[in-house]
Amino acid sequence: MEESIRIRDREELCALSPVTSAPIRHHVFVCNGKSCTSNDSAEVKEAFEVELKARGMLVGKASKGKNPAGSVVLTDCSSVGFCAIGAAVLVYPDGIWYAQVRASDVHEIIESHLVGGRVVERLALLRVSTEHNPARAE
Ligand code: FES
Repeated sequence: MEESIRIRDREELCALSPVTSAPIRHHVFVCNGKSCTSNDSAEVKEAFEVELKARGMLVGKASKGKNPAGSVVLTDCSSVGFCAIGAAVLVYPDGIWYAQVRASDVHEIIESHLVGGRVVERLALLRVSTEHNPARAE
């Protein structure tokens, strides 16, 4: 079996992945599990993408309408256990898990939480502790 080649030089790795130099402040996960999908999680993710792009906040390639120097990474995730109360949206590093999110809630989450730093309490059902994390990068 051929051994895979791993790049060990950090600068080379960063050059290959420009996201490493983006001023990322938040990672938003939208569940695409079966139950959340039946609660329109695809529309929720689309609403995040449209508004974050319009605000220049979504990290990604400019050729895709995103901003290489954006502050928010948006990705799908698998089921996290909020299945009966989806669509689930998780915001890190804050450790906030939102439930029953609909596309119509997305503007409020962006404006209040991602921009203003205020959690949308009516949707926030879980706060995961982020206090002790010895693996956190400097
Ligand atoms: S399917 Fe989304 S939390 Fe389970």
